[in-house]
Amino acid sequence: MPADTASVIVKGIGAYVPARIVTNDELSKTVDTSDEWIRTRSGISERHVADPDQATSDLATQAALAAMADANVSPEDIDLIIVATMSPDMAFPSTACLVQSKIGAGCIAAFDITAACSGFLYALETGTRMLKAGDYRHALIIGAEKMTSLMDWDDRTTCVLFGDGAGAVVLGKSDEPGTGVIDSILRADGERPSLLYMPAGGSARPASAETVANHEHFLKMNGKEIFKVAVRDMGKVALDLLDKVGVKPEEVACFIPHQANIRIIESMVARMGVPMDKFLINIDRFGNTSAASIPIALEEARRTGKVKSGDYVLMAAFGAGLTWGASLVKLT
Ligand code: UT7
Repeated sequence: MPADTASVIVKGIGAYVPARIVTNDELSKTVDTSDEWIRTRSGISERHVADPDQATSDLATQAALAAMADANVSPEDIDLIIVATMSPDMAFPSTACLVQSKIGAGCIAAFDITAACSGFLYALETGTRMLKAGDYRHALIIGAEKMTSLMDWDDRTTCVLFGDGAGAVVLGKSDEPGTGVIDSILRADGERPSLLYMPAGGSARPASAETVANHEHFLKMNGKEIFKVAVRDMGKVALDLLDKVGVKPEEVACFIPHQANIRIIESMVARMGVPMDKFLINIDRFGNTSAASIPIALEEARRTGKVKSGDYVLMAAFGAGLTWGASLVKLT
Protein backbone atom coordinates (compact mmCIF):
# COMPACT_ATOMS: atom_id res chain seq x y z
CA MET A 1 0.00 0.00 0.00
CA PRO A 2 1.29 3.51 -0.75
CA ALA A 3 2.75 5.20 2.33
CA ASP A 4 1.49 8.77 2.63
CA THR A 5 3.82 11.24 4.33
CA ALA A 6 3.52 14.62 6.00
CA SER A 7 6.14 16.48 3.97
CA VAL A 8 8.60 15.96 1.16
CA ILE A 9 11.75 17.89 2.02
CA VAL A 10 14.89 19.03 0.22
CA LYS A 11 17.63 17.06 1.97
CA GLY A 12 20.54 18.12 -0.23
CA ILE A 13 21.40 20.51 -3.06
CA GLY A 14 24.25 20.26 -5.58
CA ALA A 15 25.39 21.92 -8.78
CA TYR A 16 28.07 21.49 -11.41
CA VAL A 17 29.21 23.67 -14.29
CA PRO A 18 31.97 22.78 -16.73
CA ALA A 19 35.30 24.52 -16.10
CA ARG A 20 35.58 26.30 -19.45
CA ILE A 21 34.26 29.89 -19.40
CA VAL A 22 33.53 31.69 -22.67
CA THR A 23 33.25 35.47 -22.37
CA ASN A 24 31.23 37.73 -24.66
CA ASP A 25 34.47 39.14 -26.05
CA GLU A 26 35.66 35.65 -26.94
CA LEU A 27 32.34 34.90 -28.68
CA SER A 28 32.48 38.15 -30.62
CA LYS A 29 35.65 36.91 -32.34
CA THR A 30 33.66 34.20 -34.16
CA VAL A 31 30.08 35.59 -34.13
CA ASP A 32 28.87 38.99 -35.44
CA THR A 33 28.05 40.40 -31.99
CA SER A 34 29.57 42.47 -29.18
CA ASP A 35 29.96 42.37 -25.41
CA GLU A 36 27.94 45.57 -25.24
CA TRP A 37 24.95 44.12 -27.18
CA ILE A 38 24.85 40.86 -25.23
CA ARG A 39 25.17 42.55 -21.82
CA THR A 40 22.61 45.27 -22.42
CA ARG A 41 20.03 43.09 -24.23
CA SER A 42 20.32 39.99 -21.99
CA GLY A 43 22.47 40.66 -18.90
CA ILE A 44 24.93 37.90 -19.82
CA SER A 45 28.70 38.45 -19.51
CA GLU A 46 29.96 34.88 -19.77
CA ARG A 47 28.79 31.27 -19.81
CA HIS A 48 30.26 27.85 -19.02
CA VAL A 49 30.73 25.52 -21.98
CA ALA A 50 31.12 21.74 -21.72
CA ASP A 51 34.03 19.92 -23.36
CA PRO A 52 33.22 17.95 -26.53
CA ASP A 53 33.52 14.66 -24.61
CA GLN A 54 31.19 15.82 -21.79
CA ALA A 55 27.53 14.88 -22.32
CA THR A 56 24.49 16.06 -20.38
CA SER A 57 24.54 12.87 -18.26
CA ASP A 58 28.12 13.71 -17.17
CA LEU A 59 27.05 17.17 -15.97
CA ALA A 60 23.96 15.66 -14.32
CA THR A 61 26.04 13.01 -12.56
CA GLN A 62 28.40 15.59 -11.03
CA ALA A 63 25.47 17.67 -9.74
CA ALA A 64 23.75 14.51 -8.42
CA LEU A 65 26.86 13.37 -6.54
CA ALA A 66 27.21 16.85 -4.98
CA ALA A 67 23.56 16.83 -3.88
CA MET A 68 23.91 13.31 -2.45
CA ALA A 69 27.03 14.35 -0.49
CA ASP A 70 25.14 17.39 0.82
CA ALA A 71 22.20 15.18 1.87
CA ASN A 72 24.57 12.58 3.31
CA VAL A 73 22.94 9.77 1.35
CA SER A 74 24.60 7.02 -0.68
CA PRO A 75 23.58 5.50 -4.03
CA GLU A 76 21.70 2.66 -2.26
CA ASP A 77 19.47 5.25 -0.58
CA ILE A 78 18.19 6.63 -3.91
CA ASP A 79 15.20 4.89 -5.46
CA LEU A 80 13.97 7.42 -8.03
CA ILE A 81 15.87 9.60 -10.53
CA ILE A 82 14.16 12.23 -12.67
CA VAL A 83 16.24 14.26 -15.12
CA ALA A 84 14.73 17.38 -16.65
CA THR A 85 16.50 18.17 -19.90
CA MET A 86 15.94 19.35 -23.48
CA SER A 87 19.47 18.31 -24.48
CA PRO A 88 19.55 14.59 -23.58
CA ASP A 89 22.63 12.52 -24.44
CA MET A 90 20.47 10.86 -27.13
CA ALA A 91 16.77 10.49 -27.96
CA PHE A 92 16.74 7.22 -26.04
CA PRO A 93 17.51 5.71 -23.61
CA SER A 94 16.75 8.44 -21.11
CA THR A 95 19.55 10.51 -19.59
CA ALA A 96 18.20 9.45 -16.17
CA CYS A 97 19.07 5.80 -16.98
CA LEU A 98 22.63 6.86 -17.82
CA VAL A 99 22.85 8.79 -14.54
CA GLN A 100 21.53 5.75 -12.63
CA SER A 101 24.48 3.73 -13.93
CA LYS A 102 27.06 6.51 -13.47
CA ILE A 103 26.22 7.15 -9.81
CA GLY A 104 26.09 3.41 -9.06
CA ALA A 105 22.46 3.33 -7.93
CA GLY A 106 20.47 0.08 -7.90
CA CYS A 107 17.88 -0.89 -10.55
CA ILE A 108 15.53 1.85 -9.42
CA ALA A 109 12.97 4.00 -11.28
CA ALA A 110 14.59 6.52 -13.65
CA PHE A 111 13.12 8.67 -16.40
CA ASP A 112 13.41 12.05 -18.13
CA ILE A 113 10.99 14.95 -18.24
CA THR A 114 10.87 17.36 -21.17
CA ALA A 115 9.43 20.73 -20.28
CA ALA A 116 12.37 22.85 -21.51
CA CYS A 117 13.32 25.66 -19.12
CA SER A 118 10.40 24.79 -16.81
CA GLY A 119 11.61 21.18 -16.63
CA PHE A 120 13.14 21.31 -13.16
CA LEU A 121 9.86 22.51 -11.63
CA TYR A 122 7.92 19.81 -13.51
CA ALA A 123 10.40 17.19 -12.22
CA LEU A 124 10.24 18.56 -8.67
CA GLU A 125 6.45 18.34 -8.62
CA THR A 126 6.45 14.83 -10.14
CA GLY A 127 9.06 13.57 -7.67
CA THR A 128 7.27 15.17 -4.73
CA ARG A 129 3.97 13.52 -5.65
CA MET A 130 5.63 10.13 -6.15
CA LEU A 131 7.35 10.34 -2.76
CA LYS A 132 4.16 11.46 -1.04
CA ALA A 133 2.08 8.65 -2.48
CA GLY A 134 4.54 5.79 -2.80
CA ASP A 135 7.19 3.68 -1.14
CA TYR A 136 10.10 5.72 -2.51
CA ARG A 137 12.49 6.95 0.19
CA HIS A 138 14.73 9.41 -1.69
CA ALA A 139 14.48 10.95 -5.14
CA LEU A 140 17.18 12.70 -7.16
CA ILE A 141 15.65 15.58 -9.10
CA ILE A 142 18.11 16.91 -11.65
CA GLY A 143 18.05 19.74 -14.19
CA ALA A 144 20.90 19.27 -16.67
CA GLU A 145 21.70 20.77 -20.05
CA LYS A 146 24.41 20.89 -22.66
CA MET A 147 22.65 23.74 -24.45
CA THR A 148 25.75 24.53 -26.51
CA SER A 149 25.15 21.21 -28.33
CA LEU A 150 21.86 22.64 -29.68
CA MET A 151 23.31 25.96 -30.88
CA ASP A 152 23.62 27.14 -34.45
CA TRP A 153 26.87 29.07 -34.17
CA ASP A 154 25.89 30.98 -37.34
CA ASP A 155 22.75 32.34 -35.61
CA ARG A 156 23.76 35.28 -33.42
CA THR A 157 20.21 35.74 -32.15
CA THR A 158 20.43 32.49 -30.11
CA CYS A 159 24.01 31.24 -29.72
CA VAL A 160 25.10 34.09 -27.42
CA LEU A 161 22.34 33.39 -24.88
CA PHE A 162 22.80 29.84 -23.62
CA GLY A 163 25.25 27.92 -21.43
CA ASP A 164 25.86 24.45 -19.99
CA GLY A 165 25.48 23.09 -16.46
CA ALA A 166 23.46 21.02 -14.03
CA GLY A 167 21.83 21.29 -10.62
CA ALA A 168 20.19 18.67 -8.43
CA VAL A 169 18.27 18.17 -5.21
CA VAL A 170 17.75 15.07 -3.10
CA LEU A 171 14.17 14.82 -1.91
CA GLY A 172 13.32 12.83 1.22
CA LYS A 173 10.42 12.48 3.64
CA SER A 174 9.65 14.13 6.96
CA ASP A 175 6.89 13.63 9.52
CA GLU A 176 6.90 17.38 10.20
CA PRO A 177 3.95 19.03 8.42
CA GLY A 178 4.19 22.31 6.50
CA THR A 179 7.82 22.09 5.43
CA GLY A 180 9.72 21.06 2.27
CA VAL A 181 7.98 21.33 -1.09
CA ILE A 182 4.83 23.27 -0.18
CA ASP A 183 3.07 23.40 -3.56
CA SER A 184 3.51 24.07 -7.29
CA ILE A 185 1.52 25.40 -10.21
CA LEU A 186 2.46 24.02 -13.63
CA ARG A 187 1.09 25.34 -16.92
CA ALA A 188 1.41 24.60 -20.64
CA ASP A 189 0.07 26.06 -23.87
CA GLY A 190 1.02 24.25 -27.07
CA GLU A 191 -0.72 26.62 -29.47
CA ARG A 192 2.55 28.09 -30.79
CA PRO A 193 5.26 25.39 -30.51
CA SER A 194 7.52 27.05 -33.09
CA LEU A 195 8.19 30.04 -30.82
CA LEU A 196 11.03 27.93 -29.42
CA TYR A 197 11.82 24.56 -31.00
CA MET A 198 14.13 22.29 -32.90
CA PRO A 199 12.46 21.65 -36.26
CA ALA A 200 14.04 18.31 -37.23
CA GLY A 201 15.34 15.10 -35.72
CA GLY A 202 12.01 13.85 -34.35
CA SER A 203 9.21 11.78 -35.89
CA ALA A 204 7.62 14.81 -37.58
CA ARG A 205 10.76 15.57 -39.54
CA PRO A 206 13.36 12.82 -39.31
CA ALA A 207 17.02 13.61 -39.98
CA SER A 208 18.00 13.78 -43.64
CA ALA A 209 20.74 15.40 -45.70
CA GLU A 210 18.26 18.23 -46.35
CA THR A 211 17.49 18.89 -42.65
CA VAL A 212 21.20 18.97 -41.87
CA ALA A 213 21.92 21.33 -44.77
CA ASN A 214 19.06 23.60 -43.60
CA HIS A 215 20.40 23.82 -40.02
CA GLU A 216 17.15 22.30 -38.74
CA HIS A 217 18.84 20.34 -35.95
CA PHE A 218 19.48 23.51 -33.96
CA LEU A 219 17.40 25.53 -31.50
CA LYS A 220 15.25 28.20 -33.20
CA MET A 221 13.65 30.96 -31.16
CA ASN A 222 11.35 33.91 -31.69
CA GLY A 223 12.97 35.87 -28.85
CA LYS A 224 10.67 38.90 -29.00
CA GLU A 225 7.45 36.84 -28.67
CA ILE A 226 8.84 34.63 -25.90
CA PHE A 227 9.97 37.76 -24.07
CA LYS A 228 6.41 39.15 -24.00
CA VAL A 229 4.92 35.89 -22.74
CA ALA A 230 7.63 35.49 -20.09
CA VAL A 231 7.08 39.00 -18.75
CA ARG A 232 3.34 38.37 -18.53
CA ASP A 233 3.29 34.84 -17.11
CA MET A 234 6.29 34.27 -14.85
CA GLY A 235 5.43 36.93 -12.25
CA LYS A 236 1.72 36.06 -12.43
CA VAL A 237 2.18 32.35 -11.76
CA ALA A 238 4.49 33.17 -8.83
CA LEU A 239 1.87 35.45 -7.28
CA ASP A 240 -0.93 32.94 -8.03
CA LEU A 241 1.00 30.25 -6.15
CA LEU A 242 1.59 32.48 -3.12
CA ASP A 243 -2.08 33.36 -3.13
CA LYS A 244 -3.04 29.67 -3.38
CA VAL A 245 -0.95 28.64 -0.36
CA GLY A 246 -1.59 31.80 1.68
CA VAL A 247 2.00 33.02 1.91
CA LYS A 248 2.72 36.75 1.45
CA PRO A 249 5.55 37.87 -0.87
CA GLU A 250 7.28 39.54 2.09
CA GLU A 251 7.44 36.16 3.88
CA VAL A 252 9.56 34.72 1.07
CA ALA A 253 13.32 34.95 1.75
CA CYS A 254 14.45 34.43 -1.82
CA PHE A 255 12.91 34.43 -5.30
CA ILE A 256 14.65 32.30 -7.90
CA PRO A 257 13.47 33.14 -11.42
CA HIS A 258 14.55 31.23 -14.51
CA GLN A 259 17.66 33.03 -15.72
CA ALA A 260 16.82 33.84 -19.36
CA ASN A 261 17.18 37.61 -19.56
CA ILE A 262 17.87 40.24 -16.89
CA ARG A 263 15.21 42.49 -18.44
CA ILE A 264 12.58 39.75 -17.99
CA ILE A 265 13.62 39.39 -14.34
CA GLU A 266 13.49 43.17 -13.81
CA SER A 267 9.94 43.36 -15.14
CA MET A 268 8.96 40.42 -12.90
CA VAL A 269 10.42 42.34 -9.94
CA ALA A 270 8.40 45.42 -10.87
CA ARG A 271 5.20 43.41 -11.33
CA MET A 272 5.56 41.59 -8.01
CA GLY A 273 6.55 44.67 -6.02
CA VAL A 274 9.33 42.75 -4.28
CA PRO A 275 12.79 44.29 -3.64
CA MET A 276 15.35 43.27 -6.27
CA ASP A 277 17.81 42.13 -3.60
CA LYS A 278 15.44 39.27 -2.73
CA PHE A 279 16.04 37.82 -6.21
CA LEU A 280 18.93 35.45 -6.90
CA ILE A 281 20.47 36.60 -10.17
CA ASN A 282 23.41 34.82 -11.76
CA ILE A 283 22.60 35.11 -15.47
CA ASP A 284 25.69 37.30 -15.88
CA ARG A 285 27.96 34.30 -15.12
CA PHE A 286 26.01 31.36 -16.56
CA GLY A 287 23.69 32.60 -19.33
CA ASN A 288 20.50 30.62 -19.89
CA THR A 289 21.07 27.00 -18.83
CA SER A 290 17.41 26.03 -19.39
CA ALA A 291 16.30 23.28 -16.98
CA ALA A 292 19.55 23.63 -15.01
CA SER A 293 19.09 27.33 -14.36
CA ILE A 294 16.89 27.14 -11.24
CA PRO A 295 18.75 24.36 -9.37
CA ILE A 296 22.13 26.02 -10.14
CA ALA A 297 20.75 29.25 -8.66
CA LEU A 298 19.21 27.40 -5.69
CA GLU A 299 22.60 25.87 -4.87
CA GLU A 300 24.20 29.34 -5.01
CA ALA A 301 21.49 30.85 -2.81
CA ARG A 302 22.06 28.21 -0.14
CA ARG A 303 25.89 28.22 -0.40
CA THR A 304 26.13 32.02 -0.13
CA GLY A 305 23.70 32.24 2.79
CA LYS A 306 20.96 34.02 0.83
CA VAL A 307 18.66 31.27 2.10
CA LYS A 308 18.89 29.13 5.20
CA SER A 309 16.95 26.48 7.06
CA GLY A 310 13.33 27.54 7.68
CA ASP A 311 13.24 30.02 4.77
CA TYR A 312 10.66 30.06 2.00
CA VAL A 313 12.14 29.98 -1.53
CA LEU A 314 9.91 30.72 -4.50
CA MET A 315 11.08 29.41 -7.88
CA ALA A 316 9.45 30.41 -11.18
CA ALA A 317 10.16 29.42 -14.77
CA PHE A 318 8.94 29.58 -18.36
CA GLY A 319 10.17 28.05 -21.58
CA ALA A 320 9.51 26.11 -24.76
CA GLY A 321 6.12 24.47 -25.14
CA LEU A 322 5.19 26.98 -24.01
CA THR A 323 5.49 25.83 -20.42
CA TRP A 324 5.65 27.82 -17.22
CA GLY A 325 5.18 27.37 -13.52
CA ALA A 326 6.20 28.11 -9.95
CA SER A 327 7.12 26.07 -6.86
CA LEU A 328 7.35 27.11 -3.23
CA VAL A 329 9.81 25.30 -0.95
CA LYS A 330 10.49 25.76 2.76
CA LEU A 331 14.07 24.68 3.37
CA THR A 332 14.75 22.35 6.29
O1 UT7 B 1 14.64 30.32 -21.75
C1 UT7 B 1 13.40 30.65 -22.22
C2 UT7 B 1 13.27 31.17 -23.56
N1 UT7 B 1 14.02 32.25 -24.05
C3 UT7 B 1 13.94 33.54 -23.65
O2 UT7 B 1 13.47 33.86 -22.61
C4 UT7 B 1 14.39 34.62 -24.58
C5 UT7 B 1 13.47 35.78 -24.52
N2 UT7 B 1 13.89 36.86 -25.41
C6 UT7 B 1 14.98 37.61 -25.17
O3 UT7 B 1 15.68 37.42 -24.21
C7 UT7 B 1 15.26 38.75 -26.14
O4 UT7 B 1 14.19 38.89 -27.05
C8 UT7 B 1 16.59 38.55 -26.93
C9 UT7 B 1 17.78 38.74 -26.00
C10 UT7 B 1 16.61 37.17 -27.56
C11 UT7 B 1 16.69 39.61 -28.04
O5 UT7 B 1 16.54 40.92 -27.49
P1 UT7 B 1 15.61 41.98 -28.24
O6 UT7 B 1 15.74 43.25 -27.49
O7 UT7 B 1 14.24 41.38 -28.35
O8 UT7 B 1 16.33 42.14 -29.62
P2 UT7 B 1 15.74 41.91 -31.09
O9 UT7 B 1 15.50 40.46 -31.34
O10 UT7 B 1 14.60 42.86 -31.29
O11 UT7 B 1 16.94 42.39 -31.98
C12 UT7 B 1 17.33 43.80 -32.01
C13 UT7 B 1 18.45 43.93 -33.01
C14 UT7 B 1 18.16 43.28 -34.36
O12 UT7 B 1 18.69 44.13 -35.36
P3 UT7 B 1 17.73 45.08 -36.23
O13 UT7 B 1 16.75 44.15 -36.90
O14 UT7 B 1 17.08 46.00 -35.23
O15 UT7 B 1 18.68 45.76 -37.16
C15 UT7 B 1 18.93 42.00 -34.32
O16 UT7 B 1 19.35 41.57 -35.61
O17 UT7 B 1 19.63 43.27 -32.51
C16 UT7 B 1 20.14 42.40 -33.52
N3 UT7 B 1 20.78 41.26 -32.85
C17 UT7 B 1 22.07 41.27 -32.46
N4 UT7 B 1 23.02 42.20 -32.56
C18 UT7 B 1 24.23 41.90 -32.04
C19 UT7 B 1 20.21 40.08 -32.51
N5 UT7 B 1 21.13 39.31 -31.89
C20 UT7 B 1 22.28 40.03 -31.84
C21 UT7 B 1 23.56 39.77 -31.32
N6 UT7 B 1 24.50 40.73 -31.44
N7 UT7 B 1 23.87 38.62 -30.71
